[in-house]
Amino acid sequence: MNEQELLLQLNEKFKQPSLTFGFWKDSRLPTAYIANRFCRGAVTLYGAHVLSYIPDGQKDLLMVSEKSLFEPPIGIRGGIPVCWPWFGPDPAPPHGIARIQFWELKNAVSQPDGSDTLTFELTVTDPHELTVSLEVNFGAALTVAVTTVNNGKTSYLLGEAIHTYFKVGEIEKTLIRGLGGATLDNRLTKQSSIAPDVFGFQEETDNIYHSDATVMIEDPVLKRKIKVEKQFSRDTVVWNPWIAKSQKMENFGDEEYHGMVCVEAANCFGHRVDLAPGAKHTLIQKISTSAL
Ligand code: BG6
Repeated sequence: MNEQELLLQLNEKFKQPSLTFGFWKDSRLPTAYIANRFCRGAVTLYGAHVLSYIPDGQKDLLMVSEKSLFEPPIGIRGGIPVCWPWFGPDPAPPHGIARIQFWELKNAVSQPDGSDTLTFELTVTDPHELTVSLEVNFGAALTVAVTTVNNGKTSYLLGEAIHTYFKVGEIEKTLIRGLGGATLDNRLTKQSSIAPDVFGFQEETDNIYHSDATVMIEDPVLKRKIKVEKQFSRDTVVWNPWIAKSQKMENFGDEEYHGMVCVEAANCFGHRVDLAPGAKHTLIQKISTSAL
């Protein structure tokens, strides 16, 4: 089946007023578009990658790079990549295979409250027999739940992150609250420390906080706060590539670091999940916004 036929099939199968399917921008990536009483949003089958979440009357909470390619097998830069079933650069491909695979849309439900829930699924046999599903609810908040089932006969050490790129007005004026007191591993300096209550950005940042606490992103330029709630997430990653790394990344504009920050619900490195045969694990991130 070609992509055009897939779109026709999706539009037929999941007929509901709040949901339509089309290609994302100029790409050939089949994408579900949501428009309901709470928000507008978009999620493509490539990576089960959420590309947009615009609560009513707001700017998009998510940032997608103007330089991003939307061409498999390249990962999309921005939105919500799902890092799975490992986190980090090793082994290749970095952050795992899920973000560069086409997932299947299993279900789309308009909820009684007017929100919409879409469920995507992907089954792999390499590096292990695993099934992952991503359930995303577009409502007054955006909730993403990533559930992994171990279909194999041995345990699997699962690394994962919901790697959300948030749009901010100006990174140098953006503050992160909520992680104070957590142990912080700075991946750039390789130093560990206790995190301060408030964190501001002055340089490249790649921090892993051993914390599942709720994070507030304070954005005085866009005059909003973004609340990031997490469940079953032992780590929180905070990342901004800053100047030199932005220039090095091919699918990212040199100046785009000003307008984004990643805050990620994660279980990574020492906190990977030891998943027994037949066992299931879910990682959840919920994001919402209010005026500052
Ligand atoms: C973050 C990592 O989660 O993702 C960073 O902590 C990494 O180290 C960043 O640079 C982006 O990764 P990628 O593979 O999308 O370029």
